[in-house]
Amino acid sequence: MIDLKYKPTIIGNKVILRPFETGDIDYMEECLKDPEVLKFTGSIDDFDRDFITRWYSTRNDQTDRLDLAIVDKCNNIAVGEVVVNEYDETRHSMNFRILIGPRGRDRGLGTEATTLFVDYIFTNTDLKQLTLGVYSFNPRAQRVYEKVGFILESIDKDELEYEGVMIDSLNMVLTRENWERMHK
Ligand SMILES: CC(C)(COP(=O)(O)OP(=O)(O)OC[C@H]1O[C@@H](n2cnc3c(N)ncnc32)[C@H](O)[C@@H]1OP(=O)(O)O)[C@@H](O)C(=O)NCCC(=O)NCCS
Repeated sequence: MIDLKYKPTIIGNKVILRPFETGDIDYMEECLKDPEVLKFTGSIDDFDRDFITRWYSTRNDQTDRLDLAIVDKCNNIAVGEVVVNEYDETRHSMNFRILIGPRGRDRGLGTEATTLFVDYIFTNTDLKQLTLGVYSFNPRAQRVYEKVGFILESIDKDELEYEGVMIDSLNMVLTRENWERMHK
């Protein structure tokens, strides 16, 4: 098991990744209820306010996962989150995920947040790899992951039904070796 008790603040050019604060909850609720976030994360809008408050006020107590707010440096507002969770002992690996709400998308924040977070994880743990799942109808997210060094590993066919169409889920992996190669 990887100890992720410590919650860092990571400062980039466009974003700051930092532990959640009470003032982020309204902004995170906006992100979670955003139609594009719901579509691309395969979620339904069933988050009530109490759940969201409880969720974000307990992220900093978790020792087996790391959840950080993505804060837009332009206005100091939380526009999304980056997460590693679900430790896989066999592969000595964890799952990465990211979401950015409407205030933060398409300005390079996701690319920078992913790069900073992945760098932090590989520098501060001995994990062998990070994995993720991305739906085939989300080329923007795939592009971000490829830029950071994730490669396609396998495909789970027909994982999601969206508006009557079956959508595949792509399993991507970033190995430590590939991450190191990206830094040379
Ligand atoms: C996916 C997500 C994290 C990306 O973050 P972002 O800040 O919007 O993305 P960026 O601006 O950093 O980069 C997007 C890249 O995708 C490219 N892109 C955008 N739309 C695209 C499309 N339809 N097809 C291919 N590439 C696309 C952009 O050109 C850019 O690449 P470039 O820098 O080489 O030009 C964010 O949009 C998001 O959270 N979306 C909603 C939820 C989601 O999809 N989460 C991921 C679930 S797996």
